[in-house]
Amino acid sequence: MIDAGTWSAPGRVNLIGDHTDYNGGFALPCALPRRTTVVARRRDDGLLRARSTGATEPLEVLLPGARGEVGGWGAYVAGVAWSLAEAGVAVPGADLEISSDVPLGAGLSSSHSLECAVALALTGLAEVEVRVPALARIVQRAENEYVGAPTGLLDQTASLASVADHLTFIDARAETARPVPCDLAAAGLELLVVDTRAAHALTDGAYGSRRDACERAAGRLGLGTLRELTDDLDVDGALARLGELDDDPEAVRRARHVITENARVLQVVELVGSGLLREVGPVLSASHASMRDDFENSVPEVDLAVETAVGAGALGARMTGGGFGGSVVALVDAALVPAVQAAVRAAYADASLAEPGFLTVVPARGAGRDA
Ligand code: GLA
Repeated sequence: MIDAGTWSAPGRVNLIGDHTDYNGGFALPCALPRRTTVVARRRDDGLLRARSTGATEPLEVLLPGARGEVGGWGAYVAGVAWSLAEAGVAVPGADLEISSDVPLGAGLSSSHSLECAVALALTGLAEVEVRVPALARIVQRAENEYVGAPTGLLDQTASLASVADHLTFIDARAETARPVPCDLAAAGLELLVVDTRAAHALTDGAYGSRRDACERAAGRLGLGTLRELTDDLDVDGALARLGELDDDPEAVRRARHVITENARVLQVVELVGSGLLREVGPVLSASHASMRDDFENSVPEVDLAVETAVGAGALGARMTGGGFGGSVVALVDAALVPAVQAAVRAAYADASLAEPGFLTVVPARGAGRDA
């Protein structure tokens, strides 16, 4: 019987493929070298108690708990326990000590890293092994139905399934995650993540309204998801079909982003597989333009970071994750990283914006048991 243990799960940066997951499409994230760690000990009284170094209020809930019973950070913990119980896992009571060095609210999946670490800790104590597509769905249900964010499967899958030194190629419809080797250092490159400090939230309606527009477009075209539009890889044909939606220009723009973004993910997988890492840069920048102009989920602070990074020599850059703020990922020659950072810092100071945060990323290992 497992009475105690330590589990951890990373945040993620999505190299490319945003707002494709809930459309059954493709994404290419990697795990961040920043993690949430849960030290867990079984309790016999059915109580789930948790403390986090990042929060003053502890959580206490009698399992299995009721949907929405707890708000704030505790919802991510209680929500996962609730969702596991809904899936038939006999979740034991537990004391959880939580700590994290994933930047909070920066679009780097701090909340999913918490949820995934808790999911592993609770299934670990329950001595039940739930594998990735199923566990990712359980975590997604916690996020959708307990926390109230209508998110897809990208973040949980990246956190749970990533492998060190690899990107993770996700096919959301097939619910598969394939590691793609990616040795940036050998190519003299680095992934630079810029936390723009611009507020990022996925529960305030903007994310949901984008999702609704995509689903509206698919529905009107007689499709289950927008992914079906590009099943034969005919991007031009797919774009032409959007002409059928000309009375709904918003749906056309959102769908155009999804169609072209899926194609860009496949292009990047191909380039990475062929060792043509430098050529990934312009594809990242094209993805950013698509989010800015078609998906309309960027904000001026993010655009400033992207433009400044590219102006200072980055091979390409884009907003990463849900958007409406959050972080930018840039592909940069290692030797140029200090100059790019300095340029972004200076541009932010000139615009009287808060100082951005920086993180250089080597794709890290996914979630697991540490002790
Ligand atoms: C957030 C969601 C994901 C995904 C991204 C956008 O991170 O949690 O499911 O939709 O936004 O790609």
